[in-house]
Amino acid sequence: MKKIKLNTCAFVMRVVEHERFKDYMLDYIKNQPTNRLIEGLDDITNTDWNDSHDGSRKYVKKFGNIIQPYLTKMGEELRTSVFKISDIWYQQYSKYSKHQWHYHGGANWSAIYYIELPDTSIKTELFDIPENKIINSIEINEGDLFLFPANILHRSPPNKTDEVKTIISFNVDFDGVTQVFKSNDKKYVVAEKK
Ligand SMILES: [Fe+2]
Repeated sequence: MKKIKLNTCAFVMRVVEHERFKDYMLDYIKNQPTNRLIEGLDDITNTDWNDSHDGSRKYVKKFGNIIQPYLTKMGEELRTSVFKISDIWYQQYSKYSKHQWHYHGGANWSAIYYIELPDTSIKTELFDIPENKIINSIEINEGDLFLFPANILHRSPPNKTDEVKTIISFNVDFDGVTQVFKSNDKKYVVAEKK
């Protein structure tokens, strides 16, 4: 078996509606029953993961409307014209909580929106399989939307701080491929044989 390195990409975009939506979302979560998820090495302080398919939850429509233009822009970069969100859920991480290395199945891209990220030591880490190393150098801040391929291993490292990290995660399929080469591409070459 040959292991071939392929380039891919991820996207980070600041959501300008963040401040207002953050207040709404934290208030929404406060009014829901707390649901701690302990499974294998994972310990997630509070999540609505069990309802991730339920589109009738109040915040889903509101959040969907906010992020639509951001996903449209990312989709254009991916040479696609349509996208569909399949699951959406929130997660809170208090001290010592963590979400070990995992993939999201069932969609071609994964996304995380950072509602509260008080310390960058608890931002999402990715794993580079060909290089066998953790990628934690991507600049991510509270209020950012982070989109990455669903075939990238990732984790939420143990929270060693006294503060809470809160995120909304979702799975999204991009499809309806448009012209692969854009009219403003200066030049392109066919990849060499490896
Ligand atoms: Fe994840």
